Amino acid sequence: MLEAVSAIPITNKKVLDVGTGSGIQGLYCAMRGAIVTVTDINPAAVIYAQQAAQTLGVTLTAVQSDLFSNVSERFDFVLFNPPYLPSETFEDRTVDGGSKGRALATRFLAGLPKHLNEEGTALLLLSSQNDPTSLIADQQVFEASVVAKRALFFEELQVLSLRFRGNAGR
Ligand SMILES: C[S@@+](CC[C@H](N)C(=O)[O-])C[C@H]1O[C@@H](n2cnc3c(N)ncnc32)[C@H](O)[C@@H]1O
Repeated sequence: MLEAVSAIPITNKKVLDVGTGSGIQGLYCAMRGAIVTVTDINPAAVIYAQQAAQTLGVTLTAVQSDLFSNVSERFDFVLFNPPYLPSETFEDRTVDGGSKGRALATRFLAGLPKHLNEEGTALLLLSSQNDPTSLIADQQVFEASVVAKRALFFEELQVLSLRFRGNAGR
């Protein structure tokens, strides 16, 4: 995901990093001059991102939120590296992704139209375990393509780029 983000000109662009975790994506964007908001459902991640930003001397807004629930704005870039491991429960919110590992990604895609600018781009990381090909084929609101891939251990990670298809969904 970080490699995919590094290929995008983001200076002065509004970036939302959903599920920021360690803060790595959002902090990287803030260091490159983007106007960054990070969210996580885990309050410890939100506090950590604020502290890390202070340490690095960059500015960002950190919000505790279940996906977009506490976010009202639209952004030029929306990033999400979701919990994607197939699971029967959601005991570990950092990795458990429910059925096919796609529960969080599916909810994210449902909320995205209200938070992406008309010309905006979202980057969503998925695993080969999530059947990304069918997810891409199912998209009606967004045009989706794979912009980065990496084989790791038992899976291939893929970064999907999503942009509004025509005027659909707004
Ligand atoms: C796989 S980690 C990604 C961390 C980081 N963004 C990265 O790229 O390394 C997934 C993150 O999503 C967060 N998360 C899980 N469910 C969420 C939800 N419903 N809303 C917001 N964040 C969530 C987890 O707390 C965790 O920090």
